[in-house]
Amino acid sequence: MADPLKAICEDSLERFWTWLSLMLAVIAAILLGFYAVAGNINPPSNVETIDSSRLHLTEEFAEDNLGVKTNPDGSITVTMVAARYGFYPQEIEVPAETPVTFRLASADVLHGVHAPYTNMATMVVPGYVSEVNTMFPKAGEYPLFCNEYCGLGHDHMWSRLTVVEKTAGGE
Ligand code: CUA
Repeated sequence: MADPLKAICEDSLERFWTWLSLMLAVIAAILLGFYAVAGNINPPSNVETIDSSRLHLTEEFAEDNLGVKTNPDGSITVTMVAARYGFYPQEIEVPAETPVTFRLASADVLHGVHAPYTNMATMVVPGYVSEVNTMFPKAGEYPLFCNEYCGLGHDHMWSRLTVVEKTAGGE
């Protein structure tokens, strides 16, 4: 079979590496498509705006309403505010093997949140509500780190996420 690259490149080794990198790009695109369809793994698509300077006046992100709530269907919603320099509330406890939806809003600047060894990670952009749907397979203690530089206290911006064994009652 004639190599279509031959028209623009004489060197066979160079053509080999060009083909190889093209194939890698094609394989990566196929894998992305596969996991998007089969595993429903997509970039966060929740677009919901909020006035970051008035979070305390909203119902959802008022201080008294933050934290972990169990929904009627047994899933969990965690509402948190990210602000220099912490995630509030700072202690979160959720059950393992249960669908968890995190809803985060920033009260000031751009933050990010990441729980190592899990797929819980998102940017928290002021003016928007960030939403992450996940499930923690294993009980344990996970720190929640800020992973967007947000000021001098950035390195100290973290809170504690505790995943406990799922109980029969589902609580
Ligand atoms: Cu918040 Cu870095």
